Amino acid sequence: MCVYLRRTRGIEVFPEEVVITPGAKPVIFLSFLLLLEEGDEVIYPDPGFPAYRSIVEFIGAQAVPLRLREENDFRIDIDELKSLITSKTKMIVINSPHNPTGSVLTKEDMEAIARLAREEDLLVFTDEVYSEIVYDQEHVSILQFPGMKERTVMLDAFSKSFAMTGWRLGYAVLPEEWAKPLSLLVTNSNSCTCTFTQIAGVEALLNGEESVRAMVREFRRRREFMEKRMAQIEGIKIAKPQGAFYFFPNIASFGLSSKELADYLLEESGVAVLPGTAFGGYGEGYLRISFANSLEKLARAMDKMEETLSKLGRGGK
Ligand SMILES: Cc1ncc(COP(=O)(O)O)c(C=O)c1O
Repeated sequence: MCVYLRRTRGIEVFPEEVVITPGAKPVIFLSFLLLLEEGDEVIYPDPGFPAYRSIVEFIGAQAVPLRLREENDFRIDIDELKSLITSKTKMIVINSPHNPTGSVLTKEDMEAIARLAREEDLLVFTDEVYSEIVYDQEHVSILQFPGMKERTVMLDAFSKSFAMTGWRLGYAVLPEEWAKPLSLLVTNSNSCTCTFTQIAGVEALLNGEESVRAMVREFRRRREFMEKRMAQIEGIKIAKPQGAFYFFPNIASFGLSSKELADYLLEESGVAVLPGTAFGGYGEGYLRISFANSLEKLARAMDKMEETLSKLGRGGK
């Protein structure tokens, strides 16, 4: 793990700073439980992965949404982030590459967030489960910046980068003084992470590089295909994803809510997409479309979607 992190992130991590878990989700749940108290404020991306807000609220802390805007390529706006910080802010959650928008934070974005975290003495939770799936730029971890290791929990997993979702294998990188109690929480909730899964994970880390590259090449082909097909649909506006495997098209011109349109597509065409609102209130007006499927099936889905949306007749760029 430490060798892999040096190769992929250029960071020096020691075994005492790594906690292995059954998938990524236990890291979100248990590290929030460890580090947050009732009344703390946590700034999280909206739209964003729903577990962040849900667990912050479960703990009795205050979840403060940071809107990711289409006009900013769904990246974090640093001034907007600054404006949300109060004396109660304890943690900022970031997720790059991002689910559901496919946005990727640049080195400059990361540097600015790191500076702010140091100045305001904040913790950072960085969800990097899509770190291997980037298209036009390198993945940058906030852990690469000075003074960040001691205030950051990094989450990564094998689910996306190595297509091992069902294997349930994830890990946290965090300061040793937090790694010890996090290990106790893991042991007392999940016991251990299945050993044969871990052996497969070691193989993925040591010898998976070529397979990961081939997978990302395939995702890139699908991304190009989906971009072309979506551009042909009247009424849809897209921002090209820079990472992960999702499009997050703007569908506001159809005059239906995200949920209504997602239900309509499922019922009329059998195509399953998620409403943007499954990822927070600021997801209204968008759909999340996954391209983690074969080109053949994506083509079928896009044919059906195009036909169904044209029947709706509300489009109009
Ligand atoms: C951003 C993000 N974090 C965490 C997870 C959870 O991953 P896992 O299946 O390894 O628990 C997901 C899964 O969709 C995700 O998109």
